[in-house]
Amino acid sequence: METEIIRAWGDAEKDAELLRLSGRIISEGGLAAIPTETVYGLAGDALNPDSARRIYEAKGRPSDNPLIVHIARLDSLEYIISRIPEGAMKLFERFWPGPLTVVMEKSAAVPGETTGGLDTVAVRMPVHPIALEFIAATGGYIAAPSANRSGRPSCTNAAHVMEDMGGRIPLIIDGGEVGIGLESTIVDLSGERPVLLRPGYITVPMLEEALGREVLVDRAVDGVIDPDIRPRAPGMKYTHYAPRARMYIVRGSAEKAAERIAKLAEQGSRTGSKTAVIACDETRKLYGGLREDIEVISVGSREKEETIAHNLFNVLRRMDEMGAELVYSEAFYTPRLGNAIMNRLTRAAGHRFIDV
Ligand code: TXA
Ligand code: MG
Repeated sequence: METEIIRAWGDAEKDAELLRLSGRIISEGGLAAIPTETVYGLAGDALNPDSARRIYEAKGRPSDNPLIVHIARLDSLEYIISRIPEGAMKLFERFWPGPLTVVMEKSAAVPGETTGGLDTVAVRMPVHPIALEFIAATGGYIAAPSANRSGRPSCTNAAHVMEDMGGRIPLIIDGGEVGIGLESTIVDLSGERPVLLRPGYITVPMLEEALGREVLVDRAVDGVIDPDIRPRAPGMKYTHYAPRARMYIVRGSAEKAAERIAKLAEQGSRTGSKTAVIACDETRKLYGGLREDIEVISVGSREKEETIAHNLFNVLRRMDEMGAELVYSEAFYTPRLGNAIMNRLTRAAGHRFIDV
């Protein structure tokens, strides 16, 4: 299959032909990659079981890992859920359209293929104009997991989608670089108490403030996976974001961590492993004297934490591009987005920590 990349503008008139093409592809059960404000999504008809099967196949993703259903208008919600849970409206008013996904009891309209067999459905209304335009033009219910191959870092631009999906899907809609760079926050409102399933740009304090009650954090968020318990967000049990390299996160004060990372990187590189260091703008100079074959990359600035969120997946992809075999990363427990950033970084490193 040949994959076409078409630039979109987020203006229904300018994009009219592209939207017609998209409508045709999606109504036939086909797939297209689309930009959203978080990461690129691999879009298919959420109400068509064949589309869900195709998504799993294109991603190489286990089919028990449910998909998020994306809508463009609040009045689309009624059809796909059985009831609006307590507090949900407060979240929609405050955070939709935007980077928040809410898990609710599903209606019979949503096929089990889309929800990985669960009786709940995860729903999100993105704010990206191209995503909204696309959803509205393709029937209103779009299943869209992140557009990466399963296990790889999510995609923040069309070129990365092409790397992973080229030859597997007919269309990639190019909307440039995404804004946030980490996937949406997921909160589960299907039980008695709200539970955070995945940290993101919308933080727990923001959710608690909007809901006026405590939000619990699922244990799988911190990487505690009990093999006997099915995690609430099934995606949590799979390897994620992982570069091919063996990766370690070194935790501690900036100076101490940099000192240890420098030492470990020198050792690794001397034994012949292609070695890379993930640092930040503030610490980069601390690695000045390292062997030349060690690549030191800044993921962004701690002072502007959204730059770290935005660049993280790009940097993880860079590790593979440079053929890194050994990666040492600083930890980035920044004030607002630190939980979301470290959640991804920890998975990328396969939970390998070194504390100094
Ligand atoms: O920002 C995002 O949410 C992006 C963009 C494209 O919208 N999408 C995305 O989808 O990250 P995906 O499939 O890569 O991640 C969805 C996560 C998975 O971990 C999955 O297990 C969880 O959501 N999930 C989906 N439906 C669920 C449900 N009914 N109950 C619990 N977890 C669910
Ligand atoms: Mg994903």
